[in-house]
Amino acid sequence: MNAPAPPAKPPVQVKDGSILPRVKYCIAVASGKGGVGKSTTSVNLALALQKSGAKVGIMDVDVYGPSLPLLMGIHQQPQATPEKKILPIEKDGLRLMSLGFFLEEDSPVIWRGPMATGMVSQFVKDVVWGELDYLIIDMPPGTGDVALTLTQQVPLTGAVIVTTSNDLSTVDARRGLSMFQKVDVPVIGVIENMSYFTPPELPDKKYYLFGQGGGQRIADTLGVDFLGEVPIDPRVAESGDRGRPIVVDHPESDTAKAFSNIAQEVANRVEKLAKPSISILDSNITWEK
Ligand SMILES: Nc1ncnc2c1ncn2[C@@H]1O[C@H](COP(=O)(O)OP(=O)(O)OP(=O)(O)O)[C@@H](O)[C@H]1O
Ligand SMILES: [Mg+2]
Repeated sequence: MNAPAPPAKPPVQVKDGSILPRVKYCIAVASGKGGVGKSTTSVNLALALQKSGAKVGIMDVDVYGPSLPLLMGIHQQPQATPEKKILPIEKDGLRLMSLGFFLEEDSPVIWRGPMATGMVSQFVKDVVWGELDYLIIDMPPGTGDVALTLTQQVPLTGAVIVTTSNDLSTVDARRGLSMFQKVDVPVIGVIENMSYFTPPELPDKKYYLFGQGGGQRIADTLGVDFLGEVPIDPRVAESGDRGRPIVVDHPESDTAKAFSNIAQEVANRVEKLAKPSISILDSNITWEK
């Protein structure tokens, strides 16, 4: 009876129309751990959504290792408008913005906290994103300053968590996931990347090199949806390095199909998430999945 009241929850993030007013859904692609394939997933997910007819942008806020220029093969700087707004770069039908567009190749990125978080604000407020169905946000690894600022400044519709199947990665993924849950950003689901390898000469075999089912397990444990497995495919790395993501370079491959299926899963869930209005979100109605 004497226990202190639990701390008040931060308010549910609902688009109030002042930030990114013409963007329908903002989706963060995050992970607890680096190198699991967030950027690869962001780019291929964006392209798969675009192919299905949506208008899509990617905002790369990985200040420590922006990969969008390399993955999309961009070697130009964005232009400014006379009103001092920044125009995103357009490629393959996507609108793109990344800190990497402003850096010399190989220049070290020594960003201290305030500078990094300032960049997030600029990308949100000063980039002319225009009308978009989806803004995919490629997050830096982990749950640091930039990730937190982003969850506070961008009206996120939801987040997807990328993980590999091994235990170390899934433990980190849980941490990433709980960060979003703490700030009341819905977790759309978990994507398991680099799940299995299928040798070209044995197309019916799946070798689960990092163990099977890790992504599904964390999704189950944390009560969120599992969105699918993406195989390990040397063409992902190779086509990424050439600036031709696999969804456009090898659209017939199982890997591209896996990204397209996941994009469909995301699109289905996002629509449901975005539908409730403020008054419904604030009430006690629970939504059936
Ligand atoms: N399904 C896959 N098959 C083969 N290689 C992959 C796959 N997914 C990602 N990779 C490769 O793994 C490396 C890491 O991927 P990526 O840069 O997308 O990860 P990240 O999580 O964004 O990393 P960081 O934390 O550094 O931002 C890249 O070289 C990429 O080409
Ligand atoms: Mg990355």
